[in-house]
Amino acid sequence: MTDLSIVETPEYKNLVTFELCKKTPIYNWFYYKEGFSPDLVWELLDRFEVAKGATVLDPFCGTGTSLLASAQKGYNAIGFDITPLAVFVSNTKLHRGYDLKLLKEEIDKLSGYKFGDTKLKWPDLGFIEIRKAFSRYARNDLLFFKEKIIEVEDEGVRNFLFLGLLSIVMESSNVKRDGGVLRVVKKRHLPPVRKLLRNRLRRMYKDLVKAGEFPDGDNTGEFTGENNAKGFPGGIRAEARLGDSRNLPLDKNSVEFCITSPPYLNWVDYTKIYALEMALLMDGEEIRRARSDSLRSYIGAKEPKDFRVESEHLNELFEKLEGLPESSKPPAIMRGYFEDLFMNLESIYNSLKPGGKAAIVIGNSCLPNLDINSDLILAQMAEGIGFEAEGVWSSNTRICKFPGMKESRPVRESIVIIKK
Ligand SMILES: C[S@@+](CC[C@H](N)C(=O)[O-])C[C@H]1O[C@@H](n2cnc3c(N)ncnc32)[C@H](O)[C@@H]1O
Repeated sequence: MTDLSIVETPEYKNLVTFELCKKTPIYNWFYYKEGFSPDLVWELLDRFEVAKGATVLDPFCGTGTSLLASAQKGYNAIGFDITPLAVFVSNTKLHRGYDLKLLKEEIDKLSGYKFGDTKLKWPDLGFIEIRKAFSRYARNDLLFFKEKIIEVEDEGVRNFLFLGLLSIVMESSNVKRDGGVLRVVKKRHLPPVRKLLRNRLRRMYKDLVKAGEFPDGDNTGEFTGENNAKGFPGGIRAEARLGDSRNLPLDKNSVEFCITSPPYLNWVDYTKIYALEMALLMDGEEIRRARSDSLRSYIGAKEPKDFRVESEHLNELFEKLEGLPESSKPPAIMRGYFEDLFMNLESIYNSLKPGGKAAIVIGNSCLPNLDINSDLILAQMAEGIGFEAEGVWSSNTRICKFPGMKESRPVRESIVIIKK
């Protein structure tokens, strides 16, 4: 087993967070706080000299940062996510070949509708009441605009408009994302849905018009209608698919590089903190399915039946946990989480070509008496599977708070580099 020392890489601090996306057109079309930045993808592709035209995999693609960033630089990209919301946002951001004139007409048409009723209904989310989450007007208007958008014939335009609607859901609600939970709060002077939507769509439209100015400069000609949907210059293809990272439906040895970031242990249940957006896109059954198929990273997830994962760090961690007083013992999901990561690593190993590398961004966690070094455990599990662990780059610090802890604590957020 390689002696893994942790290398400080503060130069990646901003790159492993969503911070830079906020200012980057198209990447900021949907606020996904857990995402990393395109700059990280560009930096790693350069640093590891991945050949242009190669295929990049992201098994936890979220809202598609790595897919879009790869495609813009001349790489094919394939991503998977367990939620239809993430897959929809990714593919809409990746769409190419808009008819800008038609798009503009549809935006104007949507902005011009007079107030009206709708037959659509919100699904029951169980843990949060839609009635409390939105005012009566916002509740109705979001569904009203959804109904109008569904009628739009052109698929690309329809998805663009719907992404605009999804991206204003939080702003039009009485809900705040607070760490890993949604909290109903009283917001004063909420702008009407109609106004938020019009402004958002106009801004997104401007991004498309300016798309020739993408940072790498070699995308001129995009969005002119010359490229078919999802086609990037040079025949480059990028897409997200609904799928489980633990069982990737990819051929053996089919991808050259992998960049990804799994859910962190006990940070976020994605089907809860994005529940309002999901409620607009998915039905109740789809939301429940996404929750039950998500990585077991949060309390309430299913426990594993038999545990088959090997790692010295993990054994050490479990020994320490055994020694804790009963009251502060962590929930059994800890085993489920690492078992899921293990299965994901096996699946990445299978799809990577020999010599191919994976860069995995992962945040550590904490318990009242103990830090859980997910980064080191991940690197060791990877070695157990046959990867060579090349480095654990400590890039950022996040503040961790576990239920039952009096004070929060800083924990490491790292990039783990492994090679097949
Ligand atoms: C940290 S986020 C990835 C963010 C992404 N790097 C970005 O920039 O948008 C983790 C993602 O893993 C997804 N996920 C959770 N369980 C999954 C599973 N079993 N298979 C695939 N994706 C899963 C979540 O829905 C979430 O979008």
